[in-house]
Amino acid sequence: MKHEELALFGGPKTIDKKFPWPVYDEAEVNAVAEVVRGGAWGNPDCGGLVAAFEKEFADFCGTRYALACVNGSVALRLALMACGVKPGDEVIIPPYSFIATASIVVEANCIPVFADIEQDTYNLDPEAVEKAITPRTKAIIPVHFAGQACNMDALGNIARKHGLRIIEDACHGHGGEYKGRKLGSIGDAGCFSFQSSKNLNSGEGGIVVTNDDTIAGLVDSLRNVGRVKGGQWYEHHFLGCNYRITQLQAVLLQQQLKRLDSQTRRRNDNGLYLISLLEKIPGISPLTRGHGETLHTYHIFIFRYDKSFFNGTPKKDFAGMLAAEGVPSFKGYPEPLYKQQVFQKKNFMCYAIPDHVDYSGICCPVTEVACYEEAVWILQHAMLGSKEDMEKFAEAILKIQQVLNTGAM
Ligand SMILES: Cc1ncc(COP(=O)(O)O)c(C=O)c1O
Repeated sequence: MKHEELALFGGPKTIDKKFPWPVYDEAEVNAVAEVVRGGAWGNPDCGGLVAAFEKEFADFCGTRYALACVNGSVALRLALMACGVKPGDEVIIPPYSFIATASIVVEANCIPVFADIEQDTYNLDPEAVEKAITPRTKAIIPVHFAGQACNMDALGNIARKHGLRIIEDACHGHGGEYKGRKLGSIGDAGCFSFQSSKNLNSGEGGIVVTNDDTIAGLVDSLRNVGRVKGGQWYEHHFLGCNYRITQLQAVLLQQQLKRLDSQTRRRNDNGLYLISLLEKIPGISPLTRGHGETLHTYHIFIFRYDKSFFNGTPKKDFAGMLAAEGVPSFKGYPEPLYKQQVFQKKNFMCYAIPDHVDYSGICCPVTEVACYEEAVWILQHAMLGSKEDMEKFAEAILKIQQVLNTGAM
């Protein structure tokens, strides 16, 4: 096979199909239209349709409380603050995540401490967490990366032993399960994003779930300008802000939530099938199903790429070829979070991070290899495809491998 046969260089695509996202029908359109016609678009007292959605989401997660807010980043920050952290406290996070997992720690006047991930799941490595603990550590934020459950038993044991809080970053984890329990419902609090790429979305939005009365009460107040239940409109008890969502978002989420479980099961089944296809390809290692997750959301399907089986072709070039073949895929994060300029230069604006904190010498080797060499992502909407689509994804990888190993440029 010659290079011209690759879609990137003008050849036919392996799969020429659109994978629609978001998925909706007249139910979403009618629900939003009804709110528009009703005129009550906002959510001044966090009541009405927002409260109705919160109740449904709490029931879905199996938690006592669910408190919606403007996005997943704010959900994480409010949950962290509500756990009672103080300025200068340390919070352990993985460096393989979206920037918000780290930036919200700084915004809460705490210090992000990076602990490496496991090579086979890309989730926070409990051993690395234990090594990162100091007398200043107050919380851990495990990210259920890509929708794969973290090792919550091991992390829970560490948290209990050292008196730490656990805030689950479940922004990829809507509807996923760990040993039969919904992701987000296991730690002190769990946080979700409803941004448009997420498996449950309303364009933007977020939510905190918890069983803890104090955390719920504080998050409720902080998202609503520091108001408290029974207080006056212009009475403010905490330093909050207006982080409320609208009723338009709430009804979209109510309709989307009805689709979530069947979509999650479809992605989960497709993921298992795709693993069985890809593990036969030399140089391709799908992440292993981790520590007792019963349902993986496959917000991202990740496989590890070994360029030595692809004629030394760098990952980013391979990822470009795969996307051109019609597989909705991407090379993932370009670098670990601590390598971002904001951390290297400590461009923290007015936030009070002590002078001794220095990210310039940090190295988490597994994360570095994941970013620079290995990780390739297939995106969640593609995981809603058919079994035949999964076969085409595998075929596209094999085609690239064959061309790179035999073709001449
Ligand atoms: C792992 C993770 N955490 C947090 C967030 C933040 O969510 P949002 O964009 O809704 O603020 C995201 C969003 O991409 C994410 O992927």
